[in-house]
Amino acid sequence: MSLFILTFQLILYLLAFPIYVLNFIGIWDKIIKKLFPALLFRLTEMYNKSMEGIKRDLFSNLSYFENASKEINLLEIGCGTGANFKFYPNGCKITCLDLNPNFQSYLSKSQTESDHLKFEGFVVASADNMTPVPDASMDVVVCTLLVCSVPNTPKVLDEVWRVLKPGGAFYFLEHVASTDDSTLVSYLQRILNPTWRLCLDGCDLRKTTWKDLEKAKFSELKLRHIQAPNVIKPITPHIVGYAIK
Ligand SMILES: C[S@@+](CC[C@H](N)C(=O)[O-])C[C@H]1O[C@@H](n2cnc3c(N)ncnc32)[C@H](O)[C@@H]1O
Repeated sequence: MSLFILTFQLILYLLAFPIYVLNFIGIWDKIIKKLFPALLFRLTEMYNKSMEGIKRDLFSNLSYFENASKEINLLEIGCGTGANFKFYPNGCKITCLDLNPNFQSYLSKSQTESDHLKFEGFVVASADNMTPVPDASMDVVVCTLLVCSVPNTPKVLDEVWRVLKPGGAFYFLEHVASTDDSTLVSYLQRILNPTWRLCLDGCDLRKTTWKDLEKAKFSELKLRHIQAPNVIKPITPHIVGYAIK
């Protein structure tokens, strides 16, 4: 069966050959970093329509993690265009973090539309090295569709743990590898992955993020495997939940 997968991978390599060349000469990353915000803006609109109920349910108990001043200091890592803002409760104090500074204009638009929130700032940094964010400064950290793009998930989870206050929570919603290698989704993921990663800014269809979460330092982990409704097949398997420091 690996020959079958290899053949289809080869066809995709050929179809995406110009992109591979641009990547080889070091130009593609700059192009995708510029194009990605506009592309993501459209894609997240569609994705969020399908995931509205799941997200609303996920974030429904955020206020449980209010601090003694009845506030939530929330850090969203890999915030992108700010698609999650509408799910956060009134008065939440949001710090946004993303590796790509080109999201700023989309983010500003989402911030203007979210006057129920207080925005503390936009940090340009990688989630696996969030030095500008102090230790134990956040009540909640959120990440949706970020881990698929980071090469070192344990490092990100260590950083999330560092910036959370004791008792604080890390909320996640991530597409992951299919747990059953015999399914159509698994075949699609294996065929598409090399070209998908190149074209979509490092997004990896085969992450086993639940394993990293199980090994991380959190004291409690609430994690569910779900099949996302109405999304394209290769990103159907998701994990959703939260972990407590
Ligand atoms: C697929 S988008 C998801 C955006 C947003 N969380 C959402 O759900 O709409 C992935 C985001 O993670 C950002 N990103 C990728 N690698 C990152 C890293 N190492 N550190 C911080 N952000 C990163 C990308 O720039 C992009 O904004």
